[in-house]
Amino acid sequence: MTTRVTVHRIDPDDPAQVDAVLDMDQLVWADDLRTPREVALADTPTRAAWIARVNGEAAGIAASWDVELSVPAAGGGASLRPVEGLTWVGVHPDHRRRGVLTALIREHLRWTRDEQGRSISVLKASEPGIYGRFGYGVTSSTVMSSFGRGTTFAAPSAVREVADATTLRTTTASPDQGRRWHALARECARTGAGHIVRSPQDSERLLADNPESRGTREPARLLWATRERRDVGAAYFHRTPKWTHGKPDGTVGVFFLVSTDAGARLALAERLVDIDLMGTTEYWVAPDDVLALWLPSPRSLGGSGVSDNMWLRIVDLPAAVAERGHAADVDLVVEVRDEILQDNAGAWRWTSTGADAAVTRTDATADLTLDIGDLGAAWLGGQTLGARAAAGFVTEHRPGAVAELDAALRTAVGPVGTIDF
Ligand SMILES: CC(C)(COP(=O)(O)OP(=O)(O)OC[C@H]1O[C@@H](n2cnc3c(N)ncnc32)[C@H](O)[C@@H]1OP(=O)(O)O)[C@@H](O)C(=O)NCCC(=O)NCCS
Repeated sequence: MTTRVTVHRIDPDDPAQVDAVLDMDQLVWADDLRTPREVALADTPTRAAWIARVNGEAAGIAASWDVELSVPAAGGGASLRPVEGLTWVGVHPDHRRRGVLTALIREHLRWTRDEQGRSISVLKASEPGIYGRFGYGVTSSTVMSSFGRGTTFAAPSAVREVADATTLRTTTASPDQGRRWHALARECARTGAGHIVRSPQDSERLLADNPESRGTREPARLLWATRERRDVGAAYFHRTPKWTHGKPDGTVGVFFLVSTDAGARLALAERLVDIDLMGTTEYWVAPDDVLALWLPSPRSLGGSGVSDNMWLRIVDLPAAVAERGHAADVDLVVEVRDEILQDNAGAWRWTSTGADAAVTRTDATADLTLDIGDLGAAWLGGQTLGARAAAGFVTEHRPGAVAELDAALRTAVGPVGTIDF
């Protein structure tokens, strides 16, 4: 029997539809329902949310956050672009594996491209096996790290001097710091690719305390780093106290840590790994994070290994290419496979000269063939097309073509790990 799935975008002003989204989310994610309904409703993403129905019955949901992503800029660093952050994806247990998610994703991708005019969709995945089939690639990775109390970071003296000139101040996180946080996050995002900056409204909401949903943890704190009266970094963390055999053994959980420079990062990290009554600080770093480089080797990071951080899907290839800086001139023909968005598929002449890059339709013979997901993986500098060619995903028809495109897409530093959304 074929299942007919329909997808419609909810009306954010219709309480019944918003209720339906929240009910589905709480069911799918086994929510403990301790958060008061009005608080949960205020956190429900209504800006863009979809409900999938099977025979008229609600079967699944998806939503999208309005976020900015830092992408590689011409000449180095990064620039912010508006993208869509897919979120709140869930399918009713009675309707699993009948194409409900597939219908929701197809609609999200179409809407992102055709109605929002945005070139990229990003997400954080609950499980690794879900999103590759929809053209998303793992664009950044994270090392799930755990720092013991008093961890020493062997930063060079020039960095330490900047850290010493940085002032730290602990506050309790609160919505009235949202605009300040947002402004700092935008500034930090220009230092490298892979940052997600939430909207000002969402930043405010994220900093609100909800006692029912934080369990045994304290209210979240914001540690601000300033220098010469300017914000140069901030960390969002909370402590969970614990006593083991009479000794203090609490955990510091760090959810965001952003900085405009290495000195601010060092100052923040040294404070976070040396908080009284705490034994361990958990913070997941990107492989190229300076915090990892200031330790003797990756083995010193502790934790539980490497995981995917963010997935990226190009929905409008010409726009995405024009919005991304290229590190070298290139002129070649790429055959792109995209089974969902046919406008991306086919042969493209890919050129970049100085600060300008473009793809244009061509009938010429392809120099290489790849999947749209291969580009998602390489877009922020987290993977090379060469590695994906070695794995058999990218096919080279002219020797050297893969290396030429890799040189153009190269970034000085790998992508950062980003906040959850
Ligand atoms: C993950 C989830 C959304 C999938 O929804 P679904 O409607 O069952 O997915 P579909 O039927 O559209 O599946 C499409 C394909 O993805 C595969 N797939 C779906 N979920 C998968 C998973 N967790 N791991 C691996 N493959 C998965 C299906 O087998 C199917 O493969 P096929 O095309 O080869 O037949 C659903 O199981 C769910 O709600 N899980 C709990 C919440 C969650 O993890 N949400 C994702 C948040 S990032």
